[in-house]
Amino acid sequence: MHVHHIAIAVQDLDAALPFYSDALGMVLGERHTVPEEGVEVAILPVGDSEIELLEPLDPGNSIGRFLEKRGEGIHHICILVDDIEATIEQLVQTGAQMATEVREHPNGTRYAFVHPKSSHGVLLELYEQPKA
Ligand code: CO
Repeated sequence: MHVHHIAIAVQDLDAALPFYSDALGMVLGERHTVPEEGVEVAILPVGDSEIELLEPLDPGNSIGRFLEKRGEGIHHICILVDDIEATIEQLVQTGAQMATEVREHPNGTRYAFVHPKSSHGVLLELYEQPKA
């Protein structure tokens, strides 16, 4: 297991990126929209992990509402797991509550969110990468 990424909700990627890239010296890896999650993402690799800056495509979607309610900040932490179904089963058996079903990105990565009520206040994403 390791931390795959830490996602930070921002109002405006163009306004947020200079801090991370110019001031802090991180290198922007990739920037793209994820229509299924309603965000534009800027990925900044950090060792084996990444910081993802998320800007909502629509102020009414879940990231938009998060920003309105809580302001900019950590939106979720993503843990890479070997077998997402097994991890979810184990969690559910201990009484944890999932926030979503397992979904799949076009690149084959499968993911699901654990409800912050169960993960002590942090939205936790589970990630399973496609088997090579
Ligand atoms: Co994520």
